[in-house]
Amino acid sequence: MTRRFVVTGATGKTGAHTVRLLREHGHEVTAFVHRHDERSEALAGLGADVVAGDLRDLAAVTAAARGAEGLYLCYPIDSARIEVTATVAQSAADAGVASVVNMSQISARRDAVSNAARQHWLAERLLDRYPFATIHLRPTFFADWLLWGWTDEGAGGVLGLPFGAGRHAPITSADQARVITAMLDDPAPHAGRTYRLFGPRELDHTEIAAIMSRVLDRPVRYEPLELDVVCAGLLGRGLPGHLVQHFTGVALDYRAGVFAGTGDAVQQITGHEPTSVEDFVATHRHNFHGTGQFAVLGQEN
Ligand SMILES: NC(=O)c1ccc[n+]([C@@H]2O[C@H](COP(=O)([O-])OP(=O)(O)OC[C@H]3O[C@@H](n4cnc5c(N)ncnc54)[C@H](OP(=O)(O)O)[C@@H]3O)[C@@H](O)[C@H]2O)c1
Repeated sequence: MTRRFVVTGATGKTGAHTVRLLREHGHEVTAFVHRHDERSEALAGLGADVVAGDLRDLAAVTAAARGAEGLYLCYPIDSARIEVTATVAQSAADAGVASVVNMSQISARRDAVSNAARQHWLAERLLDRYPFATIHLRPTFFADWLLWGWTDEGAGGVLGLPFGAGRHAPITSADQARVITAMLDDPAPHAGRTYRLFGPRELDHTEIAAIMSRVLDRPVRYEPLELDVVCAGLLGRGLPGHLVQHFTGVALDYRAGVFAGTGDAVQQITGHEPTSVEDFVATHRHNFHGTGQFAVLGQEN
C-alpha cells in the first residue's frame, strides 16, 4: 500500500533531497513549494505532486495535508515562523497527519540572542502541544556555509566569516534528508524526541580552509571577520534585518561553542556515515568561485 508524505520547503536544501529519497522509497509525495519554477519542475519530474502556495495559507496547507501520513516542516529564517508553524500544525492535526518532523536548529533556546533561534524554540513548544508525534531536528551549521562564505582571491579563495576560532562538524543537506526520510518512514522510535545533528568531524575554520585547499588544489585561507563589518556588509547587500540579526546572534553563539560537538545520530538513524568536508568540497568543487551569498569580502569592488 502506498503511503503519502508532505514535504514543505520542498525546493530548498533539505526539502528537495527529502522528496527524492521518499520517491526512491516508493512513497507518494506532496511537494509544497513557494512558486513554480525549474526547481519545482525537477520535483514533478521525480513523480512528486507539486502544490504551490504560501505556508501561511491555512486552507492551502490543510488541503495539501489531507491523506498524508507524515509531514516535514521546513521554513527559512523569516519573521513569520510562528504563524507558519501554527498554520502547519493546525492543518496537520485537522487532516489527521500522524507525525511531523520539524527543522529547528542547534541554537534554538528560550534565551537565544537571535530572534529567529528563539522563535525556533517557541515553534518547537507549539508543535509539542499537538496530538501528532513530533520530532525536532537541531542541526549544527550546514556544510553549505563553505560556499556561502567564499570569495575568490587570486588563483584560490578566502573563507571570510565572523566565526572566530569556534568549531563545528559541518553537516550536509543530503545527510539530513536521509535522517528525515527514515523518521517519516518509521516515526515511532523517534516520537517526542529532539536530535542534535552533526557531520562526522568537528573542525575550526582554519582546519576547514586547509582541507579545502588540499581538495581543490588551490590556496584557501580563513579570514576571521569582525561581526559589525559583516553585518554592515550584509545589510548593504539588501539582506533582511531579521536575517542579519539572526546571523549576528548565531555568530556569537558559534564563537561561544553553541554549534560545537559531535554525535552519531546520523549514523544510528540512517545506517550511513555522514559526509566528510573533504567529500562535500570535492562534490561541489565547481561551485567555489565568485562571491558566496554571505560573503562580504571584496564586495566593494
Ligand atoms: N543553514 C544552516 O546552517 C542551518 C543550520 C541549522 C538549521 N537550519 C535551518 O534550516 C531551515 C531551512 O532554512 P534555509 O534558509 O536553509 O532554507 P531552505 O530549506 O534551503 O529553503 C527554504 C524553502 O522554503 C520555501 N519558502 C520560503 N517561504 C515560503 C512560504 N512563505 N511558503 C512556502 N514556502 C516557502 C522556499 O521557497 P523559495 O526559495 O521559492 O522562496 C524554499 O524552498 C531553517 O529553519 C534554519 O533554521 C539551517
